[in-house]
Formats: sequence, structure tokens, C-alpha cells
Amino acid sequence: MQVFRYAVTTVQIMMVGAIIGLALAGVTKPAAGAEAKPAAAPPAAEIKVPGGTMDAVTAILTRRSIRNYTSRPVPEELVQLLVTAGMSAPSAFNERSTEFVVVNDPKVMAEISQTNPASMQLKRASVAIVVAGHQGKEKFPGKGYWQLDGAVAAENILVAAHAMGLGAVWTAIYPYPERIPAVQKILKLPEQVLPLCIIPLGYPAEQKVRENHFDPARLHTNTW
Ligand SMILES: Cc1cc2nc3c(=O)[nH]c(=O)nc-3n(C[C@H](O)[C@H](O)[C@H](O)COP(=O)(O)O)c2cc1C
Repeated sequence: MQVFRYAVTTVQIMMVGAIIGLALAGVTKPAAGAEAKPAAAPPAAEIKVPGGTMDAVTAILTRRSIRNYTSRPVPEELVQLLVTAGMSAPSAFNERSTEFVVVNDPKVMAEISQTNPASMQLKRASVAIVVAGHQGKEKFPGKGYWQLDGAVAAENILVAAHAMGLGAVWTAIYPYPERIPAVQKILKLPEQVLPLCIIPLGYPAEQKVRENHFDPARLHTNTW
């Protein structure tokens, strides 16, 4: 009997030890519906937003396409912040298929505007961000997700640029079949990386007023 009790206690201790071991190794599953603890966000102090930046809603409601820029150079840290804004956009299945090419070489800018009439604004800009989609990173190729990922990233850049007092415009590369390979060639992009748009940037040399695009006829509630 004494031997039996001793054996039970030993088995119990071993089981408790095994459960603790599995939990420490991360083998045990969280209860159904429970979310894994998210990784800690970087401290807000690491995000250096310049003083005077507009709030997000005002920036969205007042943004306009700006196609003329002064010769004042755009500081590198602002370009870096704009790329970070692009990379902060939502992404289908979190595939992060969008790639960003900063172009500040006047020769490359000139080459693009010669090849692509839609990017004529590059002639007046000192820097541009090319937003491209990496087809190799798509989780469901052919469904159109690189274009969607890229479009939301580009919009983040356009809004953030306006919020920081810069002018910017979407100049289309996709879906023009002749523009895509031309820009790929100039920028030496891999075959699977397709340029979606080019966003020239600069301090505005034109002032545009806000346009109110709210149209009640385009708003439907519950059903059409
Ligand atoms: C998908 C897309 C493609 C565009 N392509 C060009 C373009 O190639 N060149 C250009 O100057 N503007 C282009 N635009 C900017 C539009 O012309 C502009 O957003 C529109 O005229 C409304 O003006 P706003 O941006 O000032 O509100 C494009 C915008 C989008 C969303």
C-alpha cells in the first residue's frame, strides 16, 4: 500500500513537471478564442513626427494632387518617414508585398519622365518614391493583392506628405503594359517586382483649395 501511494505521488509530480515543461516550451495551445500576446509596439518616442504636422482626418479631407514643386529640397528624414508611412499600411494576409524605391538621382528621374509621359512631374521634383509590388511575396498570386497592398501604401504616403506640408501626386505605371517594363528596366527591378505608381515629392509651388467630394447620392445605407 505504502509502495502504491509512493508510486502515485511520483507519477503526479512527473505529470505536473511535464505540463510546466510544455508550457515553458510554448507547446500548450491557448484556449480557443484566446489571442497570442502581441509583440510590444516600439515606443512612441522613436516616431519623430515634425512639429506642425496636420492631424490625420484634416490631412485626408484636404489632400490634393500637387504637380508643381519649389526647388527647396525635401529632407531625407521626411522621405524616410514617408516610406515608413507606406510600410505601415494594412496588407492582405499581412503579406507585405509592397517595395519602395526612393529615386533622387536627377539622371534617373529624367530617364523616367522621358520614358513615361505620366510622370512628367518628376522633372520638377527633387525626389520621388516608386511604389511597387513583389509578386513573389503574394500569398495568393493572381488575385490582385499586390495592387491593393500597393494602393493603400501609396495613399498613406500621399496623405502623410500633405500632412507634413509637402506636395505629391500618384503618377500611374500600372496598369499600362508598356510603362511597367520600361520603369522596371530603368530601376533594375527584378522581374517579379512590378511598379504600381511613382510619387514625385516636393514643397508645393501651387496652392489648391480643398474640394468637398461628399456626395449624398453615393452614400447608401444597409441596401442600395
Ligand atoms: C490610380 C490613379 C492613377 C492616377 N494617375 C495619375 C497620373 O498618371 N498622372 C497624374 O498627374 N495624376 C494621376 N492621378 C491623380 C488624379 O488625377 C487625381 O487624384 C484626381 O484628378 C483628383 O484630384 P485630387 O487628387 O487633387 O483630389 C492618379 C490617381 C489615381 C488614384
